[in-house]
Amino acid sequence: MRFDVLTLFPEMFQGYLGQSLLRLAIERGLVEAALHNIRDWTRDKHHSVDDRPFGGGPGMVMKVEPVVECVEDVRARHPDPGHLVLLTPQGRRLDQPAVERLAAHRRLLLLCGRYEGFDERIREILEPEEISIGDYVLNGGEVAAMVVIDATIRLVPGVLGDEDSSRFDSFSGGRRGLECAHYPRPREYRGLTVPNVLLSGDHEAIARWREQDARRRTERRRPDLPADERSAER
Ligand code: ADE
Repeated sequence: MRFDVLTLFPEMFQGYLGQSLLRLAIERGLVEAALHNIRDWTRDKHHSVDDRPFGGGPGMVMKVEPVVECVEDVRARHPDPGHLVLLTPQGRRLDQPAVERLAAHRRLLLLCGRYEGFDERIREILEPEEISIGDYVLNGGEVAAMVVIDATIRLVPGVLGDEDSSRFDSFSGGRRGLECAHYPRPREYRGLTVPNVLLSGDHEAIARWREQDARRRTERRRPDLPADERSAER
């Protein structure tokens, strides 16, 4: 899977791209990531990427020309035009089904905004899919783009070892609620013990306990989820 990140702050991604899971995936050729600085597509002498909106009002807006030309150039550098995602609080809220849909693309172009928003013509010309990571406003789309990358690479075959397969994650593998509690060693810590059933060796009983625990946790922690999504299944 290939990511092209279009941003005014490519350096924000350096640390993130070097972190272990992602670095390994890149080294093994499972994931490719390229950073593009939108400012490189400006043509005026001040390299301006933002401007005041007509009609007045506070704040600056990202200009149409560098953004559109950056996306078009980056797109054309690869045989697969990819799927363009605009990170914005005005987008559709990211959830696991949306992550699964995004992960089905072989190439994602992630367009990150700064300032108060985008010239509306960027949307009209490029027709991106608009994604929000939640109902709050970040200083820019960069952190949201990292969230999209982080969630999608878990679904790229081979990125996770089999032991940590994403099939068992909350909201994944047919489960629409939370996953059950986990207990590694020690068996007892500060008087807190591991539920006996997990030590019993009875695989059916363990599976039943996990299913019940997942359901209970989802009901308790996420009463906002519709009831059918609360019947977790593993
Ligand atoms: N840019 C600013 N806020 C955002 C959000 N909540 N989601 C995605 N992109 C953003």
